[in-house]
Amino acid sequence: MDNYKILLSQETIEKRIKELGEEITRDYQGKEPVVICMLKGAVYFFADLTKNIKLPLMLDFARLSSYRNGTTSGQMELIYDITAKIEGRDVILVEDIVDSGKTLSYFIKLLKKRNPASVKICAFLDKKERREVDINVDYVGFDIPCGFVIGYGLDYAEKYREFPFLAEIVDPAKL
Ligand code: IMP
Ligand code: MG
Repeated sequence: MDNYKILLSQETIEKRIKELGEEITRDYQGKEPVVICMLKGAVYFFADLTKNIKLPLMLDFARLSSYRNGTTSGQMELIYDITAKIEGRDVILVEDIVDSGKTLSYFIKLLKKRNPASVKICAFLDKKERREVDINVDYVGFDIPCGFVIGYGLDYAEKYREFPFLAEIVDPAKL
């Protein structure tokens, strides 16, 4: 295939997620965090990560939209909100990728109005070079460079999420 190049194999991803799970388990000892899956992109990361956190958890889901068509950024919109009450709770936001940082910073502002005890971010991928707003990613799976990536939940125009690995698009015209 010359339209995409595999960056992270299934094995590499699994190994890193185990480590992240252990780290979060240590950091949240004695707590019962609310772990929020940022749909749709974080779906596989969230499923695999939460199985590796050895603590009582409350799982919840939210969906924001900023990428409308392919790789072009659009308007921010809260499509689906969490149902959990987070007042006084420790919240961990699980995201597929932090790019400009706008999506998470928008959502964190909204969540903080509900007075959680803490809010931390766990992102599968971090594209640090593209950051536009100041946001601290507490747990990072992998730092990646600027290219557009697909698979393991991440899409290009709603396609390729189901790939079990992470790949970089080489030539979008051939996808
Ligand atoms: P941000 O608001 O710019 O940080 O954008 C974060 C969102 O953009 C992610 O949750 C993804 O849905 C999407 N996104 C950013 N970069 C990529 C990429 O390389 N592949 C697929 N989706 C991406
Ligand atoms: Mg997306």
